Amino acid sequence: MKLQMIGGGKMAEALLGGLIERGWAAADEVHVVEPSPERRSALVAAHPGLSVGESPVATTDALIAVKPGVVAAVLPALAHAGVRRVLSIAAGVRTVAIEAGLPSGAVVVRCMPNTPALVGKGAAAIAAGRAATEVDMEWAAGILAAVGTVATVSEPDLDAVTGVSGSGPAYVFHLAEALTAAGIAEGLTADTADALTRQTLLGAATLLSESGEDPAVLRTNVTSPGGTTAAGLAVFADADFVALVGRVVKAAADRSRELGG
Ligand SMILES: NC(=O)c1ccc[n+]([C@@H]2O[C@H](COP(=O)([O-])OP(=O)(O)OC[C@H]3O[C@@H](n4cnc5c(N)ncnc54)[C@H](OP(=O)(O)O)[C@@H]3O)[C@@H](O)[C@H]2O)c1
Repeated sequence: MKLQMIGGGKMAEALLGGLIERGWAAADEVHVVEPSPERRSALVAAHPGLSVGESPVATTDALIAVKPGVVAAVLPALAHAGVRRVLSIAAGVRTVAIEAGLPSGAVVVRCMPNTPALVGKGAAAIAAGRAATEVDMEWAAGILAAVGTVATVSEPDLDAVTGVSGSGPAYVFHLAEALTAAGIAEGLTADTADALTRQTLLGAATLLSESGEDPAVLRTNVTSPGGTTAAGLAVFADADFVALVGRVVKAAADRSRELGG
């Protein structure tokens, strides 16, 4: 077994699909530990040959993809199964807490993923635990690269990462809700406002990503003096939009610090 995944939920399945598709591992080189028989059957149906079970098997490397509250409970069985290197995607669970549940010298890499990983467009950041070397970080980055981009940060910076990219998709979804509602208020049908909003966000995000251009330049390019976009953006400026987003990100990062203890 090249890897075992503890937890066969949404994030684990996204990673599994990406790893198999990219040839990082064959289905029969991955074992998924998942308590739900229905989930196990669904995973095997989607990935014939996949090894699944209720308990860990003997492997060196494991991905922890259970809810944060369950992490401590799965560590003794992992230690017993000989796991010596772990990549954890559980939000807020510190590397020292995972190290404490594994044999001394075990390698832990912690990751903050985000939900666009479910469509292969994730933005993840990884941080090294005490024993993680450059080779271990490359191993972790190689797994996460199956579902998007990966940045490396120090562990304390994972709180800021949470505020920007971990929670970020929800800010964009909230903008989508607001833009759709505003379109309806201006007289569009709900279907039209919804379709235009979705495609506008997709188009703007694609332009931002593919052009590599500074977002300020892209904004200026579509803002003629005295024009319609300028009129709209002036309202953002009056409401100090930049400071508002700063407060949004700070609140999420502060909450992440609180939850991490
Ligand atoms: N930053 C982000 O946006 C983000 C997004 C997604 C996920 N995450 C992190 O990713 C992790 C997984 O999230 P998810 O959305 O994939 O959750 P999920 O779909 O609920 O998956 C968790 C899976 O673990 C299983 N499980 C529960 N107890 C277990 C045990 N003792 N041993 C093995 N498996 C067990 C659950 O089974 P049952 O359902 O039968 O209990 C479930 O299938 C979480 O820790 C979360 O913090 C972060």
